[in-house]
Amino acid sequence: MTTAAKAPIRAYSGIQPSGAPHLGNDLGAIRNYVALQERYESIYCIVDYHALTSVHDGDRLRRQTREMAAALIALGLDPNKCTLFVQSHRPEVLELAWILMTVTPVSWVERTPTYKEKKLTQPDDVNHGLLTYPILQAADILLPKASVVPVGKDQAAHLELSREIARAFNHKFGETFPEPQAVFTEAPVVLGTDGEKKMSKSINNTIDILSDAETIKKQVMSAVTDVKRPLKSDPGHPEACNVCQLHKLVNPDYKELWESERNATTGCADLKRALAERLTAHYAPARERYQELLAVPHEIDSILGDGAQRLLPLVTETMHEVRERVGLA
Ligand code: AMP
Ligand code: TRP
Repeated sequence: MTTAAKAPIRAYSGIQPSGAPHLGNDLGAIRNYVALQERYESIYCIVDYHALTSVHDGDRLRRQTREMAAALIALGLDPNKCTLFVQSHRPEVLELAWILMTVTPVSWVERTPTYKEKKLTQPDDVNHGLLTYPILQAADILLPKASVVPVGKDQAAHLELSREIARAFNHKFGETFPEPQAVFTEAPVVLGTDGEKKMSKSINNTIDILSDAETIKKQVMSAVTDVKRPLKSDPGHPEACNVCQLHKLVNPDYKELWESERNATTGCADLKRALAERLTAHYAPARERYQELLAVPHEIDSILGDGAQRLLPLVTETMHEVRERVGLA
């Protein structure tokens, strides 16, 4: 690993194997994973244990885990610069999660916004894993003693809980874990094509960056734009238009487009076409790499296997220390 010149800080993030990532994942989190691998020792994990709280289909989980690995590499993670692994390949995390559960009051997890949300979105499957989910997330981060965690804003409450859990453990058993800090990109919440809610696969408002040009175009053209501009001849309000906001995030020349929106030289459909073209062109190399990687699953598996192996000494050291502190060794 090329860690010699990096700051002595460890970054960690986890992502669920929920199929190929969307624009919100990339702008809100993955682009920071890629940036941080240059600066810190960085560990990225495909969290298949977490996914089991919603996916009960072995073949699908296996396929989506590989797809996420291929997508992360295609979007810029370099296995020579960071460690990429699958959560269940280092099952030590479950032992740490159990130990952390014993220092976490039930009230802390019951008040987690994502748990409340899941109770509404999957009311027929409010399994216990959903409640314990953020404690496993804390274990993910604390096992390698990471202190920097690149995530989107929706993970802020989980990160706060991870800090509280680290503090609770340290208070009972002595200083063991650093308190992890969330780091955000300049787009911590990317809105979906509905222009209202966070972009998310579960509400079908995504722009699927690794899809073909036609799919991207269809998704972008369906986007809600400036609702205060009923006619093309009316002046536009780029600050209030989600498509203009997306241009700002992916287009260095966005100011010109905003201006032509303001003075009604371009219409919303023109802006959407331009966005679709830009996204298609920008993600074309990643899309190609993604397809190439999917065609060689053994290579993906080998990268993931190496990642888990590389983590063994670090994980063994933390677990040895934790067991000793709590009295299991
Ligand atoms: P998920 O697909 O929910 O596992 O999310 C993976 C990462 O992407 C997490 O760090 C999320 O916080 C981030 N993320 C997901 N959706 C968005 C969004 N719409 N805007 C910004 N970040 C997001
Ligand atoms: N809960 C995160 C999500 O849904 C995924 C995750 C699991 C995670 N473990 C993590 C993120 C550790 C950061 C750090 O997106």
